[in-house]
Amino acid sequence: MNGGPGLIEHLESSWRARRSYRAFRPDPIPDATLQRLFAAAQFAPSWCNTQPWRVVVTKPPETQRLAAALQAAATSNLPHSEVPFPLDYPSPYKERRVQCGAALYQAMGIAREDKAGRYDAWLRNYALFDAPHVAIVSCDRRLGPYVYVDVGVWLGYVLTAAAALGLETCPMASVAAYPEVLRTHLSLGETDVTLFGLVMGHADEAAPANACRTSREPSSSCVRIFASGRDE
Ligand SMILES: Cc1cc2nc3c(=O)[nH]c(=O)nc-3n(C[C@H](O)[C@H](O)[C@H](O)COP(=O)(O)O)c2cc1C
Repeated sequence: MNGGPGLIEHLESSWRARRSYRAFRPDPIPDATLQRLFAAAQFAPSWCNTQPWRVVVTKPPETQRLAAALQAAATSNLPHSEVPFPLDYPSPYKERRVQCGAALYQAMGIAREDKAGRYDAWLRNYALFDAPHVAIVSCDRRLGPYVYVDVGVWLGYVLTAAAALGLETCPMASVAAYPEVLRTHLSLGETDVTLFGLVMGHADEAAPANACRTSREPSSSCVRIFASGRDE
């Protein structure tokens, strides 16, 4: 039976409180907590219950080794994700994207015209924001792109469960731009298509980047309730 007193309020308040963190303390997450997190998220639904997410989680010092290799790649090679990133963001996505970047640069005290500052902030992605762990998420390429939907649903469960366990996270498309580094360091098979990373740990609450806050459009800008040929 679904529902129950206060459940939606509780759920919505955890979703409102969750956000992305971009500076972490070095303390690793205990193995038991990592296990708990992924065991909870395993309840995510997927089409035909295929559970297609494939995940490799690093611990220190492997996380730092991977970060060093990613930084080297990001400063010398062009990005080439296996699943193409959007080339352009038409309106209204462009405006939302610009607003999101501006919120981060403002929190970090980086002026719009400060190209070097923006480059350094971008490079922090490849330092994995100094997090003790990164989960590299892939799926079997033989399944084709539709299963990315399933992996996205699973990501939502992981983010919610991590917040409930008192962990901070940031999903990271950026690391998927250097799949050969992930493949080499984590012995990923050629059958896997790399999708994104997810850094996890305990946030450095005092770091300026972590003061960043994003907003949301009202759901009516994304959702239409359609009935009798008319929008309500
Ligand atoms: C699939 C995915 C990929 C993301 N990749 C990055 C990334 O590479 N670097 C980054 O700083 N944030 C990344 N983010 C975080 C988003 O920027 C963030 O979720 C969004 O701005 C909303 O902010 P919030 O998570 O604080 O609510 C990613 C988020 C998602 C869901």
